[in-house]
Amino acid sequence: MKTMQNIDSFTHVRGESLFVDDISIRQDTLFGLVFDSPKAHGIIKNVDYSKAEKLEGVVKIFTFKDVPGENQIGGILPDEPLWAEKEVHFWGQPIAFIVAETESIAKKARQLIEIEIEELPVITTAKEAKSKGSFINAPRTFNLGDTKEAFDNCDYIFEGETFSNGQEHLYLETQGCYAIPQENGSIKLISSTQGPTAVQKITARVLGVAMHKIEVDVIRLGGGFGGKEDQATPWAVMTAVAVQHLNRPVKYILNRHDDLRMTGKRHPYSSFFKIGLNKELKIVAFEAEFLQNAGAAADLSPAIAERTLFHATNSYFVPNVKTSVYSCKTNLPPNTAFRGFGGPQGMFVIESAIAAAADNLGIDRKYIQEVNLLDENDEFSYGQIATQVEARNTWFSAKEKFELEKIEKEVASFNKTNEHFKKGVSLMPIAFGISFTNTAMNHARALVHIYQDGSVGVSTGAVEMGQSVNTKMLQVAQEILGISAGKVKLETTNTTRVANTSPSAASSTADLNGKAVKLACEKLLERLVNVAANILQEEESVISICNDLIYVADKKSSLSWEELISQAMLERVALSENAHYATPVIHFDKTIEKGHPFAYHVYGTAITITTVDCIRGVYEIDAVKIVHDFGKSMNIGIDLGQVEGALAQGIGWMTMEEISYDSNGRLLSNALSTYKVPDIFSAPKTIDTIPLETAGNGMAILKSKAVGEPPLMYGIGTYFAIQNAVKSFNKDYKLKFHAPFTPEKVLMALYEK
Ligand code: MTE
Ligand code: HPA
Ligand code: MOS
Repeated sequence: MKTMQNIDSFTHVRGESLFVDDISIRQDTLFGLVFDSPKAHGIIKNVDYSKAEKLEGVVKIFTFKDVPGENQIGGILPDEPLWAEKEVHFWGQPIAFIVAETESIAKKARQLIEIEIEELPVITTAKEAKSKGSFINAPRTFNLGDTKEAFDNCDYIFEGETFSNGQEHLYLETQGCYAIPQENGSIKLISSTQGPTAVQKITARVLGVAMHKIEVDVIRLGGGFGGKEDQATPWAVMTAVAVQHLNRPVKYILNRHDDLRMTGKRHPYSSFFKIGLNKELKIVAFEAEFLQNAGAAADLSPAIAERTLFHATNSYFVPNVKTSVYSCKTNLPPNTAFRGFGGPQGMFVIESAIAAAADNLGIDRKYIQEVNLLDENDEFSYGQIATQVEARNTWFSAKEKFELEKIEKEVASFNKTNEHFKKGVSLMPIAFGISFTNTAMNHARALVHIYQDGSVGVSTGAVEMGQSVNTKMLQVAQEILGISAGKVKLETTNTTRVANTSPSAASSTADLNGKAVKLACEKLLERLVNVAANILQEEESVISICNDLIYVADKKSSLSWEELISQAMLERVALSENAHYATPVIHFDKTIEKGHPFAYHVYGTAITITTVDCIRGVYEIDAVKIVHDFGKSMNIGIDLGQVEGALAQGIGWMTMEEISYDSNGRLLSNALSTYKVPDIFSAPKTIDTIPLETAGNGMAILKSKAVGEPPLMYGIGTYFAIQNAVKSFNKDYKLKFHAPFTPEKVLMALYEK
């Protein structure tokens, strides 16, 4: 299996990697700061900026009145103003943008702004929104078979309720942008965004200028995790509005508190399920209603809601399915993309339903899981027929390779001999669909230059955010052109070099952009082979390039890569190539909610072992043992890193990360002292990941499957492992599906009667 160090390793370790805040700024740069709503819902009666404006060093305070184009930043639906006008809809909603000579002056000015708000009723939960009919858009429903009829023929039926909380992205680099005026009204934005084209398009809309006036450049992000797919945009637009008015560069980097307060998070979900099984434990029917807490504007919520439905049956085949999702409008900051994009919320519900059924039947969850795993040619509720299915393969490999029986015996004997510590085990299979669920977004482009000295520059639409996509792009170019890694450089992601890009998201960035790099390099290679054939007086079919040398059949020739490029220059052969890739096959018809939306699925199974301290309610994760379907990994080091990072994030979501708003819609968990994320002590003591050996899938780049999001859902297994441990201590505990399963909740569960 191949591996290669992340090309950013050295600059990262030395602190030399550049992020937005590291860019050298022009001497005349000004600094921005948002003034945001101190109430979650109300009518703005008056804002008095006069004291702030008088402060020396304050250049201008921008409000909706200063917007030359549209005061509208909504992506999917036009329901979100850049700056509030008459009404505020969430605590932290931007109202104005202070621009000053220094950051500290801007901060002082913010304290001098006085606002009067006539408060309106605040909704913070999805359930309350639903009861009041407060929605973002119409609900969606997926149907397969006939659940009504199927329930009549079930031997067992169980119903229940679940809740999964939101999650803070906590990217190390907070949101921000540096905007620089160019000639003739053009503006360059150096933004920390997963979606450079979204920033460009929305900025042009708000400024009332053509898109070609706006250039967006992205070096890399200090993490995005979905939080910068849509929500990097407003800050970039605000700096751009200021540049347009002032013709001076404007920089705005959010401090952590402001970022936590003003940005949306993973969507909390309240859900209901009904599951029906027959005597053989086959799931005959499954119904679920998902209430998504969307926050105060659509943002990406409709797309996220859709993915919840796509993953509502996880890696199981269920012949009769009816699932509905409501995007509920509340007075929280608009919730947004977060690794898994609604998929985890969907999977948690069916895993809970299986747990409820198993508990009632007095058996382990795994017996239900195992007999319902997807098989070749099974149909998903949305009509796609599953092929190259690895659900059973990963499940049985995990059981066998990690000796599940032995683990279970050890756990049973531990539980027998220990009164105050109990262990729990769970299995968690996953099946995650790869592609943007919106078919039209599945495309990418690459621009490859071979310079006359033989070095290569690659530009794509891919944004590097720590997932190492640039390293993978380099590997593709290197492999197709047959040259050494040192010859290839990845350029910044820039809208003037690669236009009209989809965001780097949906775990599809390497697939889409990698396929485009491959196509561009193949076109260049074809021309170079022709030049080499002429020089060497050989047939093109026997020429190849490998390790910077030109080969004839399997023999090295005297011709080097550099000499070939020099000759190609002399012959005036084009050494640049631009390629476009659009995923074939996929389609989806929303009018009937059927189609084939995914290029392929990623499969895997995790075994989780936990130990609960039954006096204190705290727990440790002893081990997570995974068999994962990487296809034919093109970089196993990076891919294992993605598995481990995603797993840690999934465990955090399921166990300790507790977003909390008060009833007035104010964020209580607004610092790292009140919002606990996994540290080295809460990470599993061991993580073993075994790559499943498969033929790979031609839709994946170099048959190396997408890996960014799927492993997050292994973390769901932790919830049920802890639950099993609790149950073995307290037989009276009634299963609850209310994530995160914090130590407080565990303690209550251990002692409930
Ligand atoms: N890994 C790191 N280190 N940092 C990130 O921000 N984002 C995740 C995942 N892995 C992320 C990450 C998310 S939400 C997605 S969609 C994918 O990476 C995006 O990159 P890919 O499409 O190249 O997998
Ligand atoms: N995943 C991530 N981001 C997206 C998607 C998706 O399926 N659709 C639109 N944005
Ligand atoms: Mo990832 S949530 O698709 O950015």
